[in-house]
Amino acid sequence: MARRWTNDLTPADVTPKAMWLNRRQLMAGLGGAAALSMAGGRAAVAQGLEPNTLEQITTYNNFYEFGTGKTDPAANAGAMVTDPWSIQVDGMVDRPGSYSLAELLDGLEVEERIYRFRCVEAWSMVVPWNGVELADVLDRVGVQSGAQYVAFETIVQPETMPGVRRGVIPFPYVEGLRLDEARHPLTLLATGIYGEPMPKPNGAPIRLVVPWKYGFKSIKSIVRITLTDTQPPTTWNALNRREYGFYSNVNPEVDHPRWSQASERRIGGGLFASRQDTLMFNGYEDEVASLYAGMDLRENY
Ligand code: MTE
Repeated sequence: MARRWTNDLTPADVTPKAMWLNRRQLMAGLGGAAALSMAGGRAAVAQGLEPNTLEQITTYNNFYEFGTGKTDPAANAGAMVTDPWSIQVDGMVDRPGSYSLAELLDGLEVEERIYRFRCVEAWSMVVPWNGVELADVLDRVGVQSGAQYVAFETIVQPETMPGVRRGVIPFPYVEGLRLDEARHPLTLLATGIYGEPMPKPNGAPIRLVVPWKYGFKSIKSIVRITLTDTQPPTTWNALNRREYGFYSNVNPEVDHPRWSQASERRIGGGLFASRQDTLMFNGYEDEVASLYAGMDLRENY
């Protein structure tokens, strides 16, 4: 799998799966010290970027189509039909149409990226995603001048989705980004985790990952991508405008009306682990702050 490096991640942060397994075996067999001294994990550990386990990543989820509980997606998403899969691309694009996953991704470089993932609920994980840059897909379909936003829509499959049948929130789940956010090299269309195809609880077969924004922007199981010149409606913003903004950039200084965003609980940290400080733009400030130059981040939450 090809890799490219961005942000504060170095090649040492992203380790081929074989080496991860190796390292885990070492951890089990030789204890932490030996494992930490291995090149494959040193930088990641030093930066606190030790990825969560696949088990943690696939059993503690938000995917309301399958229910509102954290274990509902793992319990219920198995029946979701993800093959064949096509994505409708429309709006202000040169080559609109219904693309199979293969057509949309053919020839693009699938990279491995270890990103922090911060939910608006103040928990976080570190996830080793596989995916392509959304910008490359946008280039493939040809964004027309005048387009300013990208809108995304999740599949609605009532037969397999108990949360849809119960109408726990309005569906389809929809999200959106400003075009420059969508084109940012950190923004991924993710197709896997740990080198495996995207697990169903995490949004198989393809989902968005925008690591400097609260997790709800990272919409799962995408079936439609629309280029538009107007800010698209987004699910949580439509549900509660005051609590969930369109931007939803991770910001420790702007609290949610009902809780602080200054710190977060790292999933897998253990019951008695201390909370960790939340980082501006989730640690990606150097890369993305310029997107918001001159903007009041309290107004544009
Ligand atoms: N996408 C859809 N379609 N439905 C959802 O309920 N939940 C969002 C986001 N994308 C959600 C979604 C929220 S609140 C979060 S925190 C992340 O998915 C969770 O991603 P994860 O389960 O892979 O950690």
